[in-house]
Amino acid sequence: MSKNTIKHLAIIMDGNGRWATKQGLKRTQGHEAGAEMIRDITTYCAANPNIQTATFYAFSTENWKRPKLEVEFLMKLLDRYLQKELETYLSNNIRFLVIGEIDIFSASLRERIKLTEELTKNNTNLTQILALNYGGRAEIVGAVNKLIREGKQMISEADISTTLQTPYSDIDLLIRTSGEERISNFLLWQLSYSELYFTPTLWPDFTSKELAEIITNFEQRTRRFGGVK
Ligand code: IPE
Ligand code: IPE
Ligand code: MG
Repeated sequence: MSKNTIKHLAIIMDGNGRWATKQGLKRTQGHEAGAEMIRDITTYCAANPNIQTATFYAFSTENWKRPKLEVEFLMKLLDRYLQKELETYLSNNIRFLVIGEIDIFSASLRERIKLTEELTKNNTNLTQILALNYGGRAEIVGAVNKLIREGKQMISEADISTTLQTPYSDIDLLIRTSGEERISNFLLWQLSYSELYFTPTLWPDFTSKELAEIITNFEQRTRRFGGVK
C-alpha cells in the first residue's frame, strides 16, 4: 500500500549542457534534446490519475549570465517548443501556464505564451507549468509587494501562499536531474515540506520509466510534517 499520493510534481531539468559535451555536441544540441523529453514526461504525468500539476524549471533569473548566443537559442527553442506542443496540450487535455517574469521576453514570444495559455485554459487532465525567467525569491518579493499595494498591514502565510504566481502551492515531490543537489532558487516557498529526489541521470536521458520508479520511491516514504508517525 502506498503511503503518499503525488499531486504536484516539480522538476529541475538539469544537465543538457553536460549531456551534449559528453558526446562532442554543442550545448545547444543538449537543449534541443532536453526539450524533446518534456513531452514524454508531461504526457506520462497527464496519464497518471494522481498528478494534477507538473512544474518544470526551464529558465532561471540567473540563467541570463550565460553566453548571449546560448540565451538567444533558448528563447527561440522555447518559441518553437510551444508552437509544436500545442497539439500535445490539446490532445491530452493539458492546461499550460507560465510562472516567472516574461515582460522582458520578445513581443512574439509573449504572444505565443499568452495564446497557448488562452487556448488551453479549460483543460483539466493536468496543468503543466513552465518556470521561465523564474526565481523563487523574486516570486516571494512580488507577492509581498502586491499585498502591500493592496493595503495589507500584516501578512500571513496564507496571504503569501495565495498571492504567489504559482497557483498550486505545495510541492509533493521535487526531482533534480544531473547529480547536482541544490534548489537553485526554484519554488522556495512551495518546497518547504517537499520530498526531494536527486538523480545522476542527465535531463535528455531521463525517461518516464525512471520517473515511475521515483514516484514509487516517493509513495513509500514516511512524511511526518513535524508530527509522529
Ligand atoms: C539545464 O541544463 C537547462 C537550463 C538551465 C536552461 P544546463 O544547461 O544547466 O546543463 P548543464 O548543467 O550545463 O549540464
Ligand atoms: C537550474 O539549473 C535552472 C534550470 C534548470 C532552468 P542551472 O544549471 O542554471 O543551475 P546551477 O547554476 O547549476 O545551480
Ligand atoms: Mg545546469
